[in-house]
Amino acid sequence: PYFAAFNDFQKLEDEIKQTFDLQRVIITPGDSDRDHWVKDELGRRAVAFLQANLTKKQTIAVTGGTSMAAVAEVMQPTEKSTDCTFVPARGGLGERVENQANTICAEMANKMKGDYRLLYVPDPLSEETYRSIIEEPGVKETLHMIKQADLVMHGIGDALTMAERRKASSDVLTKLKSGKAISEAFGYYFDQRGQVVHKVRTVGMQLEDLSNIKTVVAVAGGESKAKAIESYLRQGKSTVLITDEGAAEALIKDF
Ligand code: BG6
Repeated sequence: PYFAAFNDFQKLEDEIKQTFDLQRVIITPGDSDRDHWVKDELGRRAVAFLQANLTKKQTIAVTGGTSMAAVAEVMQPTEKSTDCTFVPARGGLGERVENQANTICAEMANKMKGDYRLLYVPDPLSEETYRSIIEEPGVKETLHMIKQADLVMHGIGDALTMAERRKASSDVLTKLKSGKAISEAFGYYFDQRGQVVHKVRTVGMQLEDLSNIKTVVAVAGGESKAKAIESYLRQGKSTVLITDEGAAEALIKDF
């Protein structure tokens, strides 16, 4: 049922909310796999959510990706949420610059008339560099802000699509395939049951940090992402899902 009115999704939203033990599910009509405007609409719903839920002086951690870029695109200032600071959730993950968390974070902050901090970390990161970089005062301060974030907003990707987009090595690709990785978020790759198969070594938000954050919002749509969304939500670290009709229907059909 394409182009259904927004409130027609109440039942589907409730069903997904219960199935994945979420606090809130927001579904926008259409399928972003088929129509580009649906992704823009996902962005608008995400911005509306932020506007309704942010208050003054909050810290918002964001990931990269095209869904987050769509959110940044339509970001708008609000009176309620002044003096907010945006931080990237994790360091470099191998994305093109327009899809990087740093870029998206700065754009969101500028549009919201807020502040931002960036993480300049080489990518990929060796164990040795990792250890010394987290001791840098500038990095330390940003890392502290990331862990104290009031709200996290992130994308969910299909595992192999993300690995290829990030030009992962053949060793990593083999590991993902043999571990049957289905989804990716925050640089972590998960299998069907939500178990971590592989993790990109970078600084920033770790999966376990999410449990301390009140509001963790996933923004992901398109029927082709349904399996990835399901796999990621299995480990239950997000509290809100903003998705589209295409993904939502496949998600329920699948379960
Ligand atoms: C990445 C995020 O940048 O974007 C991931 O770090 C996510 O968490 C991915 O999987 C999703 O990308 P897109 O383009 O499908 O929104």
